[in-house]
Amino acid sequence: MENHQFVLILDFGGQYNQLIARRVREHHVYCEVKPYKTPLEEIKALKPKGIIFTGGPNSVYAEGAPSYAKEIFDLGVPVLGICYGCQLMAQLLGGEVTAAQEDTAREYGKTETHYDTGCKLFQGLPESGISWMSHGDYMARVPEGFRLVAHTAMCPTAAIADEARGFYGVQYHPEVNHTENGSLMLKNFLYDICGCTGDWTMGNYKEQQIAAIREKVGDGKVLLALSGGVDSSVAAALLAEAVGKQLTCVFVDHGLMRKDEGDEVEAAFAKWDIHFVRVDAEARFLEKLAGISDPETKRKIIGEEFIRVFEDEAKKIGAVDYLVQGTIYPDVIESGTGDAAVIKSHHNVGGLPDHVDFKEIIEPLRLLFKDEVRQLGRELELPEYLVMRQPFPGPGLAIRVIGDITKDKLDVLREADFIFRDEVHKAGLDHAINQYFAVLTNMRSVGVMGDGRTYDYTLALRGVTTTDFMTADWARIPFEVLDRVSVRIVNEVGHINRIVYDITSKPPATIEWE
Ligand code: XMP
Repeated sequence: MENHQFVLILDFGGQYNQLIARRVREHHVYCEVKPYKTPLEEIKALKPKGIIFTGGPNSVYAEGAPSYAKEIFDLGVPVLGICYGCQLMAQLLGGEVTAAQEDTAREYGKTETHYDTGCKLFQGLPESGISWMSHGDYMARVPEGFRLVAHTAMCPTAAIADEARGFYGVQYHPEVNHTENGSLMLKNFLYDICGCTGDWTMGNYKEQQIAAIREKVGDGKVLLALSGGVDSSVAAALLAEAVGKQLTCVFVDHGLMRKDEGDEVEAAFAKWDIHFVRVDAEARFLEKLAGISDPETKRKIIGEEFIRVFEDEAKKIGAVDYLVQGTIYPDVIESGTGDAAVIKSHHNVGGLPDHVDFKEIIEPLRLLFKDEVRQLGRELELPEYLVMRQPFPGPGLAIRVIGDITKDKLDVLREADFIFRDEVHKAGLDHAINQYFAVLTNMRSVGVMGDGRTYDYTLALRGVTTTDFMTADWARIPFEVLDRVSVRIVNEVGHINRIVYDITSKPPATIEWE
């Protein structure tokens, strides 16, 4: 990215690569993850202030193991090698890496580590602490010019440094939270070793993007599909600020939103002079979904119908020059990994048609992490409830009404879900729980209300804590809060006579029930 200091993260296949990038960005330094096959000429042209070699699953001495041209060390750019990256650097510069003998230098997990605070990487930090190790190889001999700057009980080469040339290597993972002060070690590398100044802020990014979008779009027409989620809302706000009058936002209201959600989204965009189209497509969607109870079929129908509605609107607007998508950086990094089993076909809603008549796609958030997208939203003065909105699945409440969907069931769920969210908010827990919602189960059971027998629906409440939504734990919501939710729901919403709280983690469950 022009106008910013740049740090390159060279990807050797490690599982924490995205995390390294996030940590670097958290220190207000712009970085990108690039494959280890990136040619040296390309790297030179990027003028990096520093280079980080990531970890990786291989052994550097294995045949065909990922490597890099030695000339990368002649660029005069500081390098930090992490785990595999450290071993690779050691090997390329003339050291020796071997398999660790059982019970000697093989380490896994939290490990007490001692640091030489005279080394720039550790200056100002405590002399010892826990680090997160995950390596089966060992640097038997470090390259000339390097000294040992950290050790553990098992391993004398927990970190190495050639300070004159600006080369540093750590066997552990400073990017994971388990490593005490790991983030500060990265900060030392970025600021004291690479000379970064922290010029990456969302305020700067906003100004630059606005200028770039104006230049690109000229007086062309821009179209954006707004789902009401954080990403598309922030993309819309950015485009509205840049080229308001030329922008049309199509907000497909499929009738599967939470209570008041459609109005909130519409209100947030009232301050910009844009063409805002809210399509009331509830009847259309409910008709298509009538009698359908299989979750994947629901997703497919909704995904397809979303595209059809969007296409109809695009046709009305006429030839558009640019289509905006709210793709964010984790999607970019993760794409191409490929073979994982499809548990649920996510991202089908909002996947845009490829035959709408437009010249080019604009993806203004393509390089941002979620927390940066939220920060950009704040810079654009979007309301906090939109910026901090918890993830909401594209198929909406359709996958939270188990079994077949009717408007009545959706209305019952909307009210109950609203009460749950309201009470969690009043208890000040909204930021502690990453996603929470109600599910209308398809089960009815016997209850008693007043003097009469009831036979009504069971509502499930779900709340999870998670950082990546790939795994999750059930949230320990205090009983008093659950009690208030329960009492209010049975009193204020009809057709629910039993409420349960979901106490399964993911895995084995998933976050959504369908
Ligand atoms: P699961 O249920 O797979 O959910 O544990 C993980 C995260 O993904 C969201 N989710 C979806 N998002 N379309 C989406 O855009 C979908 O079909 C979909 N299904 C689940 C879910 O809300 C959670 O945040």
